[in-house]
Amino acid sequence: MRQKIQVFDHAKEILGALGKGVLLTAKSGERVNMMTIGWGTLGIEWGEPIFVAYVREGRFTRELLDESMEFTVNIPYGEYDRRIVGFCGSKTGREVDKAKELSLTLVESEFVKAPAVKELPLTLECRVLYRRLQDKNQIPPSIRESMYPEHVDSSHPMANRDYHVEYYGKILSAYILS
Ligand SMILES: Cc1cc2nc3c(=O)[nH]c(=O)nc-3n(C[C@H](O)[C@H](O)[C@H](O)COP(=O)(O)O)c2cc1C
Repeated sequence: MRQKIQVFDHAKEILGALGKGVLLTAKSGERVNMMTIGWGTLGIEWGEPIFVAYVREGRFTRELLDESMEFTVNIPYGEYDRRIVGFCGSKTGREVDKAKELSLTLVESEFVKAPAVKELPLTLECRVLYRRLQDKNQIPPSIRESMYPEHVDSSHPMANRDYHVEYYGKILSAYILS
């Protein structure tokens, strides 16, 4: 069941959960993959409710995002299994089918191809209106050094040399699954 919500009424839960990690799921063709994200911005732009996700260039998820230009965000609401965000934040969809490994319950979305993940029931369905690769020259040197270490290869699951692509997703629907 989907209990529709006003997304900004739940800003505290959404932004509060980001610190521990939430899931971003993308689907292209038959390929579905979810990754943990810890950064995100909730707000308004062009008069629309927007969630901005920041995905490093080399992530597998980024390929699916670029192909589909849609995503879902799944946020814990109440108790949940922390291993899900740990696994999805350390394994790559290039090598494992994360949904299968974790036996996740994928629920068809209302408006986008990417499914929702019932185990983290607060769901945002988003369509990318705009994407932008961050300009490294505009990032303060201290942040460049700590967040984008040149000597760390793109395949590293945490901080590496890749900069982030910003995906501005218009929030088409927000709900809690039960
Ligand atoms: C708590 C946490 C937060 C993370 N936040 C982000 C993020 O905001 N952006 C990003 O590109 N990677 C982030 N990562 C790393 C990705 O989740 C990780 O590299 C993942 O394996 C990528 O999966 P993929 O290769 O299937 O796309 C985070 C990892 C953890 C554990």
